[in-house]
Amino acid sequence: MHPVAKLDRAFVWHPFTQMRDWAKSEPIVIADAQGAVLRDVFGREYLDANSSIWTNIHGHNHPRLNEAISRQLRRISHSSALGLANVPASQLAAALVKTADPARWRRSGPTFSPWPELPLKNPRLTKVFFSDNGSTATEVALKLAYEVSRRARPKTKPRFLSLSGAYHGDTIGAVSLGHIDLFHKAYRGLLFHTDQVTTPYCYRCPFNRARPERADARTYRKCQGECLGDLEQKLARQTRRGTPYSAFMFEPLMQGAAGMIAQPEGYLRQAAALARNHGALLIADEVMTGFGRMGFRAGSPPSLFASHLEGVQPDFLCLAKALSGGYLPMAATLTTPTVFNAFLGEYEEFKTFFHGHSFTGNQLGSAAAIASLDLVQKPATSRKRMHLQSLMQQELAGLWALPNVGDIRQIGLVAGIELVKDWRSRQPFDLRERAGIRVCDAMAKQGVLTRSIGSVLVLMPPYCTTPMQLRRMVSSMAEAIRETFAPGPR
Ligand SMILES: Cc1ncc(COP(=O)(O)O)c(C=O)c1O
Repeated sequence: MHPVAKLDRAFVWHPFTQMRDWAKSEPIVIADAQGAVLRDVFGREYLDANSSIWTNIHGHNHPRLNEAISRQLRRISHSSALGLANVPASQLAAALVKTADPARWRRSGPTFSPWPELPLKNPRLTKVFFSDNGSTATEVALKLAYEVSRRARPKTKPRFLSLSGAYHGDTIGAVSLGHIDLFHKAYRGLLFHTDQVTTPYCYRCPFNRARPERADARTYRKCQGECLGDLEQKLARQTRRGTPYSAFMFEPLMQGAAGMIAQPEGYLRQAAALARNHGALLIADEVMTGFGRMGFRAGSPPSLFASHLEGVQPDFLCLAKALSGGYLPMAATLTTPTVFNAFLGEYEEFKTFFHGHSFTGNQLGSAAAIASLDLVQKPATSRKRMHLQSLMQQELAGLWALPNVGDIRQIGLVAGIELVKDWRSRQPFDLRERAGIRVCDAMAKQGVLTRSIGSVLVLMPPYCTTPMQLRRMVSSMAEAIRETFAPGPR
């Protein structure tokens, strides 16, 4: 065993990992990387097929990002945001506000919101609160929404609504808004109550009367939009009771940790309109979907944010992961002047937002984020993303030939491939069978790294991935699925 692997085994506790299993084999120890290729301590190469847990968009060791971080490093790495401003954080905040401005898309071509249910009354996001990771980004939004609501309606306890299967991070507020029993049940005693509403998981939706086909379930579903009906009923019930929801938190277009649940077109637009009509603030968790992950959509503004692809401007936009290109822990929560102004007052009124982190507005993270934002907005990067998005669709189509592939859900540069016992019956694998883990292990042996969510395989390549690398990612997945489920002794 490599000496570093020995150190890891002796001292490191890995996240979301059964450490007894971890200790059974020698881990891959990453030593360096270039573009979409990770290299281990023995010099073996692996394709980074999930962008290092959904963070890395431009590839590793990118000269522009390296240079931005090094340049900042030679000046200062960190000073406190308590009582001090700093150069890159201020510049980054301005750049994020500009990027998230709907007026920008109105000027640059398609109308921002051509849909009647969402007229152009969308709020502008003009204030940025920095933190360190996705969980803190959503936690900040939650606390701000709570406080705004409490001040507006002092006699009613703020209530929150989120989608079934939701995952918004691991801090207590974020977990309270999460609805994945496997992760969240154990902490129930620590959490506050929130409500969940049916998520549009077309493949396994009890209201979908369509028989399985060899296509994304969203395209052949037969339903009456019952998920939206459930949302409308829940919102209306709380309004009737005089305790309307303070906020509705959602991942726009695709729910990541829920199993890459892709929403049918129009779902978000209608859900947002319903929630707004009932006075709920909209919290968009774009920790996974932000910065171009959700790709391009004909007739929609070419925004980097998933919400905008459906004409929705939330009251809170939570960003992390790819914010710094996936190079440094950095997060931001953007919000409106209305929310910001609710915290203004005389010092002694103590209306201050009493929340913050030691590394809020960190200079290195901010410098990386500015460089990343600049790169991702370059026309050449956009063209590459567009090309990769259609290539991914073409390549993934080949997986329908495999009987253990039940659904393939792709939006932009993310795909969830749901494994089943037999596509005709949609019969799921029991988690204990570790179907996804076994396929990912087989892929790793072929030099392609990704991580499954239960029985859903994730393909999320960095934007710099070459066509050949993408083809290898998909062919390795196909090979691994065949090998894992081949009849015969295991
Ligand atoms: C949608 C979403 N929100 C929040 C988080 C939490 O982010 P972090 O792991 O950076 O705390 C994640 C992490 O996967 C996520 O996918």
